[in-house]
Amino acid sequence: METLANKIAIERAKSSKIHDVDFDNLSFGSVYSDHMLVCDYKDGEWSAPKVVPYQPITLDPSAKIFHYGQSIFEGMKAYKDENGKVWLFRPEENCKRLNKSAERLAIPQIPEAYFMEGLNALIQVESDWIPQNPGSSLYIRPFIFASGNGFHASPANEYKFIIACAPSGSYFSGKVKVLIEETYSRAANGGVGYAKAGGNYAGQFYPTKLAADKGYQQVIWTDDNTHEFIEEAGAMNVFVRINDTLMTAPTSDRILDGITRKSILDIAKDEGIKTEVRKISVHELVKAAENGSLKEMFGAGTAAVVSPISGFGYHGKDYDLPELEESYASLLKQRMTDIQYNRAEDKFGWRHEVI
Ligand SMILES: Cc1ncc(COP(=O)(O)O)c(C=O)c1O
Repeated sequence: METLANKIAIERAKSSKIHDVDFDNLSFGSVYSDHMLVCDYKDGEWSAPKVVPYQPITLDPSAKIFHYGQSIFEGMKAYKDENGKVWLFRPEENCKRLNKSAERLAIPQIPEAYFMEGLNALIQVESDWIPQNPGSSLYIRPFIFASGNGFHASPANEYKFIIACAPSGSYFSGKVKVLIEETYSRAANGGVGYAKAGGNYAGQFYPTKLAADKGYQQVIWTDDNTHEFIEEAGAMNVFVRINDTLMTAPTSDRILDGITRKSILDIAKDEGIKTEVRKISVHELVKAAENGSLKEMFGAGTAAVVSPISGFGYHGKDYDLPELEESYASLLKQRMTDIQYNRAEDKFGWRHEVI
């Protein structure tokens, strides 16, 4: 990894908002910390990142982000352990994925040192903002968008890379009932589904609203060609347990390569759980629900870690999943969070201390 020649410049906020925040009643991602990291791309290169007070951004109405959607982001968290030490979870994976998304959206690559050292500097400055209540963390949102101007449909020549932070409470919202999508698609072959591009989420909102109107909290996306194979759960990867085998769909250009997904696969193998990465058909799921071999389904992603599914709707019929005393979902969530919060040995080398 290349390193920054100079230390990252830090401009401190004149006053802090921290005393206005009720850390015991934090929702997810709706309160922002005092500082952000900013880095501008101009004349073919990225300027050195700076930590500045959290503030609005001024853009020209012709900025290409508004017209052509060149916008990508990441989602990660900083965790504080009981001794006050601060940890990130596999941050280099977020950097790699941001650059994979950047390539697909014709956005210039962000140097790894700018991401990693910028992130480290920002989290050091914001360490008081990392909540210590159980399940709480500092949600971190790195993003890049086209700030350059012009109505011409072509990549911008200027971009902004920003990292902003939001202290967040535990994401657990109970079990969710999901609808298996038969009409709309989130992604298509050769498209941008594997990128964390803003437009992928805009395209999900309408079908998700239709599902919510029918009483479902989330959509299970299926392949765009046949709608016969399940792919993702809302903005999470999806896992299915049939008998004692844990399965998830293979990544492809339609599926986001989730960091939680790959960590869960490694932990499950370490627990001696049989795992399969393969296509899972809706037909197989319905059959397993009917004969009782479908034990669990859950979404997996940074925000909730694991989000258990109570049942699914398909073709106008609802299928309920059993309540398990000892679920894979709770075991895997426990092992993941024990690593993230420095409560257990990190045999995989995933934890990264912020010093
Ligand atoms: C579409 C989609 N799939 C999967 C995930 C899970 O990815 P990760 O575990 O890296 O958060 C996310 C969330 O980031 C997502 O937006």
